[in-house]
Amino acid sequence: MNKLTAKDIRIERLTKDFDLTNFISYEKELVAFLKEDALDNQEKMISVTYLWLINETNELCGYLTLLNDKINLEGDLKEIFKNKGILYKSLPALKIGRLCVDDRFLRRDLGTLMVLFAIQKAKEIYLEKSGCRFITLDAKRNKDISRDSIHFYKYSNFNILKERNKGATPMFLDLFNK
Ligand SMILES: CC(C)(COP(=O)(O)OP(=O)(O)OC[C@H]1O[C@@H](n2cnc3c(N)ncnc32)[C@H](O)[C@@H]1OP(=O)(O)O)[C@@H](O)C(=O)NCCC(=O)NCCS
Repeated sequence: MNKLTAKDIRIERLTKDFDLTNFISYEKELVAFLKEDALDNQEKMISVTYLWLINETNELCGYLTLLNDKINLEGDLKEIFKNKGILYKSLPALKIGRLCVDDRFLRRDLGTLMVLFAIQKAKEIYLEKSGCRFITLDAKRNKDISRDSIHFYKYSNFNILKERNKGATPMFLDLFNK
């Protein structure tokens, strides 16, 4: 399958007018979130969801949910930032709460484009509104290595914040000088 670029895509903020019924993913929890909770969370000002649509066909090919976050500077990170002259207990971040590509569009660069979109949003926040040093997220592990999102986020230059044996692994990207 050919790779997709930003020119092939339209990005829309979620509203009640979109038909989400055909969206499919092997990560069932992420399908349920989109169909059941994303709009409700958005209306309650908890998160904002962006839908990714193929320009030519209007097909929904993925979605991305963003919200505000912070990273507590503890352990190694505390030392690293102390050496940079930054002594705060925590620093501000933008969190990728959910990111999911429809099964029919996997491995065509959409996930990578979504991460770039989140970075762009974080830089807009910093340039126009407020401090924002990191992108954070909780990466889902999967026994099937071809479905382990930690590999995908490492490919996008994210680092592991805390190693966890069970559940999601917190990861971050430092936006300074990127
Ligand atoms: C993880 C996910 C977002 C990747 O999206 P994608 O559009 O398929 O990824 P891309 O095409 O941008 O991949 C870029 C590179 O990342 C790596 N990569 C992508 N998916 C990967 C995976 N599941 N495991 C390991 N490496 C992966 C590959 O090196 C790939 O390059 P290549 O295809 O040229 O080899 C997608 O598999 C997905 O939505 N999964 C279900 C939901 C999920 O796990 N979301 C993230 C946790 S919140």
